[in-house]
Amino acid sequence: MDISSFNQIIASRRSIFPKDYEAGKIDNQIIWQILKNANWAPTHKMTAPWRFKVYSGKGLEVLGKKQAEIYKKVSLKEGDFLQAKYDNLAKAPLRASHVIMIIMKRSKDVKIREVEEIAAVSCAVQNMYLTTTVYGLGAYWSTGGITYMEPAKRVFNLNEEDRLMGFFYLGKKKGINVEGKRAPIEESVEWVDNDKF
Ligand SMILES: Cc1cc2nc3c(=O)[nH]c(=O)nc-3n(C[C@H](O)[C@H](O)[C@H](O)COP(=O)(O)O)c2cc1C
Repeated sequence: MDISSFNQIIASRRSIFPKDYEAGKIDNQIIWQILKNANWAPTHKMTAPWRFKVYSGKGLEVLGKKQAEIYKKVSLKEGDFLQAKYDNLAKAPLRASHVIMIIMKRSKDVKIREVEEIAAVSCAVQNMYLTTTVYGLGAYWSTGGITYMEPAKRVFNLNEEDRLMGFFYLGKKKGINVEGKRAPIEESVEWVDNDKF
């Protein structure tokens, strides 16, 4: 592959939301390729802290129900339950072809800082994002909904020290093109190549 094609893939990667997915299921073989590419993310001391749960078909209903119930439990306790939000959480996964739960699993044997494990999982998610770009699929990383709700860990069998890092939504993309927005990289770089800085 030539570098300009590679640069183009990086720059054209966009978050595409479920409203821009059309009906239809992505081939499971493609999902496996996306996951294989996630697995090539860098990982300090080879802990490979990423774990994924893939929801598709009836599994999307299961995920929707589980997350709506988690929300209900938390919001009734807090006294801010909204039926509309409950319904929305139950339905949200159904608009995707697949939803991949993103988990950071702490190693029991290798001592490594948590931030590095979160970074490794984030690299894995970027690999997934880029793969969906090349396949022309829609995808986005969601950290909304129940991501940070305390009971979610228990419901999804995570250990206390693990982290639920959100959900990767995937669908067949409608024929849309979303423009990317970034400030020039020069605004975020300090470059030191002499002693007069
Ligand atoms: C860690 C992380 C969490 C995100 N969570 C959400 C989210 O909960 N809801 C959402 O609409 N977008 C979410 N996004 C996607 C961002 O909105 C998106 O990356 C940003 O708008 C830039 O657009 P682009 O990805 O198309 O370049 C998340 C992105 C990252 C990296």
